Amino acid sequence: MAKVLTKYVCQSCGYNSPRWVGKCPNCGEWNTFVEEAPSSLRISKKPAGASSKIEPIPMEELEREDVSRISTNIEEVDRVLGGGLVPGSLVLLGGDPGIGKSTLMMQVALQLKEQVVLYITGEESVQQIKLRAERLKADRSKNISLLAETNLDLILDVIERGEPDLIVIDSIQTMYRPGLESAPGSVSQVRESTALLLRLAKTRSIPIFLIGHVTKEGMIAGPRVIEHMVDTVLQFEGEAHYTYRVLRALKNRFGSTNEIGIFEMHETGLREVKNPSEAFLSERRYGTSGSTVVSSMEGTRPFLIEVQALVTPTSYGVPQRNTTGFDYRRLSLLLAVLEKRVGMHLGSYDVFVNIAGGVKIDEPAVDLGIATSIASSLRDVPVDSTAVAVGEIGLGGEIRTIGNIEKRVQEAAKLGFKRIVLPQNNVKGLKENGEIEIIGVDRIEQALEALLG
Ligand code: TYD
Ligand code: MG
Repeated sequence: MAKVLTKYVCQSCGYNSPRWVGKCPNCGEWNTFVEEAPSSLRISKKPAGASSKIEPIPMEELEREDVSRISTNIEEVDRVLGGGLVPGSLVLLGGDPGIGKSTLMMQVALQLKEQVVLYITGEESVQQIKLRAERLKADRSKNISLLAETNLDLILDVIERGEPDLIVIDSIQTMYRPGLESAPGSVSQVRESTALLLRLAKTRSIPIFLIGHVTKEGMIAGPRVIEHMVDTVLQFEGEAHYTYRVLRALKNRFGSTNEIGIFEMHETGLREVKNPSEAFLSERRYGTSGSTVVSSMEGTRPFLIEVQALVTPTSYGVPQRNTTGFDYRRLSLLLAVLEKRVGMHLGSYDVFVNIAGGVKIDEPAVDLGIATSIASSLRDVPVDSTAVAVGEIGLGGEIRTIGNIEKRVQEAAKLGFKRIVLPQNNVKGLKENGEIEIIGVDRIEQALEALLG
């Protein structure tokens, strides 16, 4: 009798072990091993003669197919996808529970005009889905069919009978194949289910969205092991204290991974934030010291963000340095440069730096803005509120060249800023923009002169 070989699979990374272990030797997670029975869905061996019929195709004989992308009619989603949805593509949408994945997918489904959408849910009842769709105040939902089912064999049957143009699976962790003995959500179930849906997407040329939940650690548990199988991995994320949601591509076979889409969660669903800088800057107060507007690149898009600094005399002996959204060591470096090159004595002051809006920046181009905010707070002189500052600061106090200068200048001008202070070396080659005054600087002192007067 053939021995039944059970194996233990790490639910975090998919590592296999013949016996149970407490700590995964591959990813180091604890208590992640689950016993999984061997797959009874062995792929049947090809008949011996069949393999000889497979022929490679010379690449030059291949006609170039123009992929006509399907527009989701939501600009932000289209851009992140690389210009629309590619037929037959498998897209994984990951994110924390409750972030709005189901809402986003329903909005995509509602926005589609001609396409028939099959929305398969394993988490909610069809009534709940309907309620959500009503909440989204959609005037059209004729093209959407709902199915509350988790058995993939039954689902496949439904798909075979219908002719959907788009399928949404909410979520991949709830789906299972009855032939496999492990529980839904386990690595082998998630993998098998995805492989099946991948084949379906490719053979029938139907785009499929897979929703996947992410664990607290920020890893797509389960879905992590299918990232290599899907064409596109999108991540929907947000900050706990803000209503903004950011959609970004972590992997995209059909486009760039630089793009991001920004949404805001409202009572009636997600709304696109067309002009993120405006949204981020709306709470800005004019005329207070210690605040500079900087331009930071997020993907291929410039963002105008306010950086704030507060410099106060130390009352407990050791001066405090504190940052939110900015690298602590970078702040120490900037403080040292300000001491040595500008002659600012900060040794008896506490320095706090905050990037407004809960954003995290790790781009050196914001150095200049941080430095001017610190100087402004120390001297209690407000920074010119009509100006934007960008530039990396070197150890010698010099302002170093940065990238994407054209875009940053355009964005600042578009939002009504009057002046932009940037590295002198970036000035040449920059097209004259009538709307905004361009001020090139070589050293911190010049920038402070221009911005603090
Ligand atoms: P949901 O799409 O169910 O999240 P996920 O599928 O990622 O788990 O959205 C959950 C949250 O969004 C929930 O807390 C309620 C909120 N929400 C709104 O604020 N407005 C809306 O119009 C909808 C539909 C949801
Ligand atoms: Mg959901």
